Amino acid sequence: MSESAANNARTRYLVTSALPYANGPLHVGQVVGAYLPADVYVRYLRARGEDVVYICGTDEHGVPITLTAEREGKEPQEVVDYWYAHMKETFSRFGISFDNFSRTSTPLHARNTQLFYLKLKEGGYISEAESKQMYSPTEGRFLPDRYVEGTCPVCGYKEARGDQCDNCGSWYEAYELINPHSKITGGPVEVRETTHLYLDLPKFAKRLKKWVSSQDHWRDSVRNFVLGIIEGGLEKRPITRDIKWGVPVPEPGFEDKRFYVWFDAPIGYVSSTMEWSEFAGDPDRWREYWQDPDTKLIHFIGKDNTVFHATIWPAMLMGVGEDGEEPYILPYDIPANEFMNLEVVVDGKSRAMQMSTSRNLAVWLHEALDRFPADPLRFYLASILPETGDVNFSWREFKERVNSDLIGNIGNYINRTLSFMEKYLDNEVLQPEKLSQATREAFADFKELERHYDLRMRAGRPRDALGELLAMSRKANRFFDSEAPWKSRREDPENARTSIYTCSVLLGSIAYHMAPYIPEAVECVQSFFDGPVSRISDLEKLPEGYRAHGAKPLFRRIEDDEVAEAEAKLSRAAEGT
Ligand code: MF3
Ligand code: ZN
Repeated sequence: MSESAANNARTRYLVTSALPYANGPLHVGQVVGAYLPADVYVRYLRARGEDVVYICGTDEHGVPITLTAEREGKEPQEVVDYWYAHMKETFSRFGISFDNFSRTSTPLHARNTQLFYLKLKEGGYISEAESKQMYSPTEGRFLPDRYVEGTCPVCGYKEARGDQCDNCGSWYEAYELINPHSKITGGPVEVRETTHLYLDLPKFAKRLKKWVSSQDHWRDSVRNFVLGIIEGGLEKRPITRDIKWGVPVPEPGFEDKRFYVWFDAPIGYVSSTMEWSEFAGDPDRWREYWQDPDTKLIHFIGKDNTVFHATIWPAMLMGVGEDGEEPYILPYDIPANEFMNLEVVVDGKSRAMQMSTSRNLAVWLHEALDRFPADPLRFYLASILPETGDVNFSWREFKERVNSDLIGNIGNYINRTLSFMEKYLDNEVLQPEKLSQATREAFADFKELERHYDLRMRAGRPRDALGELLAMSRKANRFFDSEAPWKSRREDPENARTSIYTCSVLLGSIAYHMAPYIPEAVECVQSFFDGPVSRISDLEKLPEGYRAHGAKPLFRRIEDDEVAEAEAKLSRAAEGT
């Protein structure tokens, strides 16, 4: 293929991970939901020469951030500045390879949000309406339902939440509560009228339904969930809030209000892409990624974000593309992942518990990285990605998976092959005149496994693809065993060379396929291996001077006491001590 033909064959991808709230540290539940699967996928696509931009940033608005600021006696800006830097650093320690990590408090993003709003208004998709909301006179502000508490109008339960009773399960409007008071101060709250802007979702219902129905490649769970919501009837959605922190609303009378955080946040994907093109010195480049119908836009999210990404956001994208300008593309896929629970030892017994960030019952990513390198953590988390159902995280299982699969299977294979080359073959790998039957079979098996791996990966299933990688490595270990080059090197050195030739080709392929998961280890393999790591078909004819030098073990074992400490920390949180 000529170079230009190869370029034409490239697909353009815009991959995003949900913008995390800049309101606390990252935990492993978020990592497996939106970041690690996207990063593995992106690294895979890049290695195959696709045109990929991977976008993220912090979500810096919303009520919880203002409450954190109040509690800490700070301005919201100080809170988000701190967590933006913290998250950026943690992602980089974990090897998440964003092309741009922006934030939603930038002036560019504020302009962008206002522009989206104005276009939606021009299209006739915005209306204004009054509603009743709870107001706290002592705090001088409106309170979102979840910060209001009172007596249930149905069963009389005293600590009923603003919009739902945990005791009898009834749903009601917050103003129906008896004796409503602020959860933050305990002070009384009253009902007041307030005006807000609404996005007219019903106007998009038909188009949304048609669009979602035709997305055969989406996960069933996502498609059915969204279709259910559309069929259940869409309602107008308020897009403004009575709050002082957020993007200002360009309308007279709305000076004291701000856009709702879920209105501006997804626009943050666009803003971050614009910022990326500015940094790249090509300020209009973002348009290729947002407006060229050939681009595949893929949003990796946790399942709790599905409504926003698969209904409201696409409606917004449809609505802004009607003023004669190039329309925006719609998401090509929205891989929503399920949840992760934690295996915690409580009173000596291990059981699965729901994460609770407020109780500190969570595995914080930066703390996990203080204990262990990124690669083993990435490896374990990739092996339990919640692609099809909820999963449990367990420190004990982490140790087992790393020690037996990563070290015992993959690491062992790489190590034994490299040290054999180094010790006995002067690091020289020669291409034999004729491939042995065993070699041809091993290559054929590998090609098949590579094909499976590619299928799983293309389908956005990195966890399943990792299974194929482990199968490759098991196969390679068996090949090494059955060839027994440590014996043949005395009796039949030529044969030993052929075995090691085959083993090193398999090694190159294993390293190539593990690169999206454990990039540091692959860099290390590459550093003591002169040849490129690549798939079998590209290695069958070895490049000149394919040799190894200075090999050393890639991973260190995870010890019992390290894991015991990490476990004990969770137990303490679970037992509330
Ligand atoms: N901050 C949200 C959360 O953590 C996700 C926002 S995703 C975006 O649940 F699309 F809105 F950016
Ligand atoms: Zn009740």
